[in-house]
Formats: sequence, C-alpha cells, structure tokens
Amino acid sequence: MNMDQVRYVDDAITSRHSVRAFLNTPVDTQTIKDILSVACRAPSGTNTQPWKVYVVTGKKRTEMIDRVCTAQLELYQKPELSEQYKETFAYYPETWISPFIDRRRENGWGLYGLLQIQKGEKEKMAAQQLRNFQLFDAPVALYFTVNKIMGIGAKMDISMMLQNVMIAAKARGLDTCPQAAWNHFHPIVLDVLGAPDDEDLVCTIALGYADPDHIVNTFITPREPIENFTVFVE
Ligand SMILES: Cc1cc2nc3c(=O)[nH]c(=O)nc-3n(C[C@H](O)[C@H](O)[C@H](O)COP(=O)(O)O)c2cc1C
Repeated sequence: MNMDQVRYVDDAITSRHSVRAFLNTPVDTQTIKDILSVACRAPSGTNTQPWKVYVVTGKKRTEMIDRVCTAQLELYQKPELSEQYKETFAYYPETWISPFIDRRRENGWGLYGLLQIQKGEKEKMAAQQLRNFQLFDAPVALYFTVNKIMGIGAKMDISMMLQNVMIAAKARGLDTCPQAAWNHFHPIVLDVLGAPDDEDLVCTIALGYADPDHIVNTFITPREPIENFTVFVE
C-alpha cells in the first residue's frame, strides 16, 4: 500500500462514528451487497464464517419497528415484563467497576447533554431510548444472527464482520449505528425475520445516510491515549 492508500484506510476507520439520526434516502441494494461482499473478508476461527445477516427494509422494517416499539413502550409501563425480554447473552457486566462505569456514564451524559436531556427527565430518556427501535430513522437494518451451537468465539468473528461492514459503509458515504439494544427483543426480532429456531440475535446495525443537520450526529466520543491501554513487553 502506498501512503495515500494508508490514509484512505485510516480515514475510513477514524471518521466512523455512531450516527443516531438518518435521512430517509434509500440505500441502493447493490451498494449493500458490495458492503457485505467486502465485509465478509473478515477473519473467523478456522474460517467458520458464523455470521448470517438479514437486510431489512420496506414493509418488514415498518413491521419490525412497530412490533418492537410497542413492546418497548409496554416494558416501560410494566418493568416486570423484563423477564420476558432477557438477552440470550450478557453484553454488559452485572456489576460495573471503574473505569468502565465512568466511561459509560460520560458517554450517556454527553449524548443526553447534546439532546438537552437533564438528570431525572425520565420521559425524555425513554423517548431517546425508543429511537433505537425506530432505527434512528435509518432506512436499512442489518440483523446479525449466529447458530446457537456456536460458542463465544463466533461472536468475536461476527464482531470483526460488523466492524468491516461499518468501515466499508463509511467508505461509500454511508453511516451506521451498531445496536445491542435490539437483543432484548430477540423473540420478536427473530419472529419478524422468520429466522429458524437455532438462531440467536447477536447485533443490529442501522445503516443509511446521516442527517448532517442533526445535533446528535456531532457527538464524537473520546478515546484513551494508547499509553493507557498498551503494554510493550520485550
Ligand atoms: C456492540 C455495540 C452495541 C452498541 N449498541 C448501541 C445501542 O444499542 N444504541 C446506541 O445508541 N449505541 C450503541 N452502540 C454505540 C456505542 O455507544 C458507541 O460505539 C460508543 O459510544 C463509541 O462511539 P462511536 O461509535 O461514535 O465511536 C453500540 C456499540 C457497539 C460496539
């Protein structure tokens, strides 16, 4: 690779950020296919390629949003229903410790601050949470599933595929938001998708063209300097 090519790759990686307001401009099907063709070059343990991707648009997208938003609103009214909507794998720890909880809080309050949501404004927070299930208005949802027989390693493989999708999308002028929020509603999601019983939902990506005028998309998250997470061992 020459230095220009290095810069293009680096730019695609560093300019990606989670977009939470999309235009309703449709995404060309061939472009989605191109992104997936590139992204599936992701490595996977012994080349098992454990990913399966459902590309959801149009009427199915509307049905998905309607059903999951209804469930989320019901859950908000009756928190005791949360038993029904348990994730099949724990994405987050049960007990948080520093520094992760601090970063999580900084992230949440940073986002809410931009949206002028203050502490205690539960209705506004719930409305913002609901935006997840409206796909932040993105015209395309990518639901990634895995066969239940596969282990934790398959989720690592799918994560690599997910990142590739987001970078390949960015290179084509598209933006994304990875979403674990949908995992709670896996029974509904898998039903709408018509997925077989042996599949689990791993992650969702909202895909589309970013709304350049929405303040939420100005949210750029910090990163620790490499000294804080790197140990050179000789
Ligand atoms: C696996 C995964 C799941 C995520 N789930 C959500 C989600 O459900 N809703 C959301 O708004 N952001 C979600 N995010 C986005 C993170 O909040 C975001 O990646 C993080 O704050 C860093 O910001 P950046 O993506 O803009 O660099 C998720 C990210 C990852 C990697």
